[in-house]
Amino acid sequence: MMTQIPIPRYLLDFDLESLPARHCDMVVVGSGVAGLSTALRVARRYRVCLLTKSSLTVNATTAAQGGIASALAPGDSPELHFRDTVETGRGLCEEEAVWILVREGPERLLELIEETGADFDREGDRLALTTEGGHSRARVAHARGDATGSELEAGLTRRLLYQKRLSVHEDYFVVDVLVDQGRCVGVLGMDVEKGTLSCFLSSAVVLATGGLGQLFLVTTNPWICTGDGVAVGLRAGAEVADLEFIQFHPTALHLPESPRWLISEAMRGEGAVIVDHRGRRIMKGVHPLEDLAPRDVVVAQMVRVMKEQDEDHLFLDTSGIPPERLKERFPNIYQHCLEAGIDITRMPIPVSPAAHYASGGLVTDVWGKTPVQGLYACGEVACTGVHGANRLASNSLLEGLVFGHRIAQDFGRRREAGELEPPRGVPISHRRKKRDLPVDLQLLRAHLQQLMMDDVGVRRSREGLEEARDFLEENWDLLDLQFLNPAGLELQNMFIVARVIVEAALAREESRGCHFRTDFPGEAEHWRRHIVFRRSEEGVRFCTRGVGELASPEYEW
Ligand code: SIN
Repeated sequence: MMTQIPIPRYLLDFDLESLPARHCDMVVVGSGVAGLSTALRVARRYRVCLLTKSSLTVNATTAAQGGIASALAPGDSPELHFRDTVETGRGLCEEEAVWILVREGPERLLELIEETGADFDREGDRLALTTEGGHSRARVAHARGDATGSELEAGLTRRLLYQKRLSVHEDYFVVDVLVDQGRCVGVLGMDVEKGTLSCFLSSAVVLATGGLGQLFLVTTNPWICTGDGVAVGLRAGAEVADLEFIQFHPTALHLPESPRWLISEAMRGEGAVIVDHRGRRIMKGVHPLEDLAPRDVVVAQMVRVMKEQDEDHLFLDTSGIPPERLKERFPNIYQHCLEAGIDITRMPIPVSPAAHYASGGLVTDVWGKTPVQGLYACGEVACTGVHGANRLASNSLLEGLVFGHRIAQDFGRRREAGELEPPRGVPISHRRKKRDLPVDLQLLRAHLQQLMMDDVGVRRSREGLEEARDFLEENWDLLDLQFLNPAGLELQNMFIVARVIVEAALAREESRGCHFRTDFPGEAEHWRRHIVFRRSEEGVRFCTRGVGELASPEYEW
């Protein structure tokens, strides 16, 4: 068993009594679909402060192209959606959470369209549905072709204007969640422009901070996705599970741009195929669903072929889709590629895998609750267990909607029962030994991203993972420093999250879903378990938990 990883409880010194404070009923951190939809619901009755470290529109939801999966088509059913989700999750899905996702999903999606007026594509009077990797039926709804995420965000932000009880605070970096006597009482944060600290005091906090793709050199995630929510939650006492399962998207546009532009899987749903440099299809005979196999299968095959052929990319051949259909169905991809000199109606698209989605995160029960009273997590930062070892395409926006709705219900119920009263006069302060070391943040960050890509990416081995661990250990005194700027705080969060991924990947001596160990290439039945991390006074350590017991309150640490 690994030694304990020392991480500080709070990253900065503070004394709440001397800081400016705002009061509300709920703080929501993050402005993607999970954060916005939760905030909008709760604000119907309670005062909500929505905080985001950049502007409202900078988040992974806005970049999402493909769509939202839900069983709405004739001949489809929640049972089939359930089957595809757990098959893709390779034995690690929490079935109760998956049933909730697939049964409540259709109603949440229709409600969202109705409430926001988002312009989803239609065929006649029905929603147009397409297929993506791992889906046995066409069930992915999409908006304005390949602009599903931005259309959703636009619809949700329009609704913000009508909410008297909701205030939005952009450019506000949440440094830590405040916990007093086991109960979450708000957040400590920094005004990004001024570099000043303040706090928001509330009876509940929802972390909906999104993903962590920026830990890797090549990613589809926007710059804000540095894993902050996972690190903040872990420091506050929440649990982190399944973080070794980092999903790489097979088809990111292979150009030196950051983040990499996504070439939606929906293109393969419409008939595009992945080919090598000689135009040969690489997925034929590899999986019954061929190019629409689950992402882990497609990525593993791409990496195999690229290694054998000594190439750093492959191609997406779109010649099977008529040019007019391509332009109409994928207007943004068409335009972006054209600006880069690639006319997708006439030439194949260069693609390679890029870090895309964290299947794990902060452990929650089916009401979005973490073990810290009053602290919820929702969306990519959370681990409800619906994704298991690999997320099914287009289940992520759906997860944010379904569990955001449940968080709002749970919060309302508990407030009415008098369980989550607003905090009063919270006397928290924090002091620790300060250290002063010269540190080149940019260099350290670049080194971390390269190492994570090379050694903790699609193919992993003990040797590479130990190298990554050595690097993190050698530079661990970064966590002793106190930064009054987001770049330093972000890097500290990235170190903590990277360390958890590395330790989990080292422990998991098998290959399952998105986690592939070259030295343990098969699935091992005894590893059909979650790896769960938690912090105590002595540091962070992990245990393993059986499937069906992820959010088990009985577990003894
Ligand atoms: C895509 O459009 O390929 C991305 C959808 C997803 O990540 O679920």
